[in-house]
Amino acid sequence: MQLAPSPLRGDFDGDDPLFSQIADDLRSQGWSVIPNALPPVLAEQLHAQILGMSEEQFSPAGVGRSADFTLNPFVRRDGILWIEGKTEAEKDWLQWSNRLRLFLNRRLFLGLFSFESHFAHYPPGAFYRKHVDAFRGNPRQDTTNRVLSVVAYFNPGWLPEDGGELALYQETETEPFLNVTPAFGTLVVFLSEEVPHEVRPAHRHRYSIAGWYRVNNSVGDHIDPPR
Ligand code: OGA
Ligand code: MN
Repeated sequence: MQLAPSPLRGDFDGDDPLFSQIADDLRSQGWSVIPNALPPVLAEQLHAQILGMSEEQFSPAGVGRSADFTLNPFVRRDGILWIEGKTEAEKDWLQWSNRLRLFLNRRLFLGLFSFESHFAHYPPGAFYRKHVDAFRGNPRQDTTNRVLSVVAYFNPGWLPEDGGELALYQETETEPFLNVTPAFGTLVVFLSEEVPHEVRPAHRHRYSIAGWYRVNNSVGDHIDPPR
């Protein structure tokens, strides 16, 4: 008997070609870069929201978390705004991200538990030096519990001379193996602990969403992950 697809059934997105591609790439190489990946309506919605936002809505991005949080303009100079589902576009983004989470959990048994994401604005001259989004540790104490990083871009007509590439590095190499153009609709997904990366100085206003899937390490009354 054939059952109709249902969100309550495990394989609802079971043959989604985009999600499958991401899973296959992660399994074989630990990263995935897909142009025009975002569903067009979702990309347009988010882009419309970004166009309506003013520079003042973005807060200077820091390094570290909670008590360890510091501003360091030598490390990064982007402005960020956390996505909390306050608009239809944000709700749709969170829903789409959640579908990807469930898909990857089923396909790759990653045990991804939660998702956090923010808009990022890199004004001309802004950059983010080479870093990893999470540090190895087992159990993942004193780290951010980030397992998988996702970045999506909202920059129509981006040209090579606009700079702002996302450079991806192998852990042991000093030269990047890939420079990603932050073109509209491009999606980048990579293992947070394993892929050092860098945002090269942008020469034009550059907009992205960066997000992280995390595992849950709550122990006793210590709620984890913290913001
Ligand atoms: C980050 C990050 C990349 C980008 O916020 O950690 O690496 O291209 N962002 O916005
Ligand atoms: Mn990063």
